Amino acid sequence: MPGDRVKKTRPRPRVLVVGFAGHQGTEYLPIVRESADVVGGVDPAPAASPLADAWGFPHYDTLGQALENVDFDAAVVTVPHSEHFPVCTQLLAHGRHVIKEKPFAVTEREARHLIHLAQRADRSVFTLLQRNFDPVFRFARENLARIGTPYWFSYDYHFNLAHPSTGWRASRERARGGVLLDMGYHLIDVLSGLFPEPEPPRVHSAFVHQYQEMRDRRLEDLVSLMCSYPSTGLAGSLRVSRHNYEKVEHLCVLGTEGALNVAPGVAVLHSVGGLPLERRTWDGPKTDVVRSMIAHYLGHLDDRYYRQGHLQSQLTTVRTIDGIYRDRSRERNKLADRCA
Ligand SMILES: NC(=O)c1ccc[n+]([C@@H]2O[C@H](COP(=O)([O-])OP(=O)(O)OC[C@H]3O[C@@H](n4cnc5c(N)ncnc54)[C@H](O)[C@@H]3O)[C@@H](O)[C@H]2O)c1
Repeated sequence: MPGDRVKKTRPRPRVLVVGFAGHQGTEYLPIVRESADVVGGVDPAPAASPLADAWGFPHYDTLGQALENVDFDAAVVTVPHSEHFPVCTQLLAHGRHVIKEKPFAVTEREARHLIHLAQRADRSVFTLLQRNFDPVFRFARENLARIGTPYWFSYDYHFNLAHPSTGWRASRERARGGVLLDMGYHLIDVLSGLFPEPEPPRVHSAFVHQYQEMRDRRLEDLVSLMCSYPSTGLAGSLRVSRHNYEKVEHLCVLGTEGALNVAPGVAVLHSVGGLPLERRTWDGPKTDVVRSMIAHYLGHLDDRYYRQGHLQSQLTTVRTIDGIYRDRSRERNKLADRCA
């Protein structure tokens, strides 16, 4: 009728879940279904077929089979690190959007190639990083300017796993890096969000191994980084490990006019000297953060402007991590030359 306003509702996106039978996949599946129609799932694991039956969607062993048999708008990808690049390039080559677990890519070269493919296909590649949707970290980003010019940060993130890494994380070929790539990706991403610099920081790194087999496979159990940003004078240190005596995450930023402290569930803004000025707490369930993150990316699949910023920020994170691994590899080669 003339004058009537019909509210257009966007159709729910059709989603393929890739790697849905694993740890992250099973965590995301019920949440993805809240905002999208899951039209199929790919996972070669024996548990995948009964799981797909239980959830009521068709199961495929390979992505190729799914691409031949089911139509979908986007794929949610939660696979081991070695599979990210082949899976994402195949999806982009078939014109599908990608919402994926970290890392965006393992090497700068792979990251640039993915960006090129995404741009050519006019499709999004979004990387799922919960801290970007956590209210406490949002408070930190929004209030950072209140501490003046940041000049130092210290960031710790540790698990207290009582056994060596298992599964694909214990295989160099499948993990493609140790704790720096796996857990450290989150932290490097938080830091590049807080301190957007045109170039990655200069980094001195120490790679440490608790288990001999991890040393043999060059998969670090602990990493300690000293970072500096020559353009601003900001410096900081970062430690990440899997086998600490307690599970902990703590970020502290010192600025010329105050300090910012962030830990799970609470961020506190301090004056110089330590007086607490403002506190933001959040004790909601992790699923609320995951829900808002997934709904956000599903709602931005066709947002070209938004996708550009996301791709550039992920490129920065990948460049930093890849640069650290390449420096280590250069040092190892030099040492080998000297010993030869
Ligand atoms: N954000 C977080 O806090 C967090 C936590 C854990 C894992 N992760 C990330 O999630 C991803 C998966 O980790 P996970 O712990 O769930 O691993 P997982 O081993 O539990 O699950 C991976 C699944 O992928 C399947 N798979 C392997 N190759 C495949 C392929 N080519 N196509 C389709 N499926 C394939 C496996 O069968 C398995 O079911 C990794 O990128 C990891 O870094 C993120």
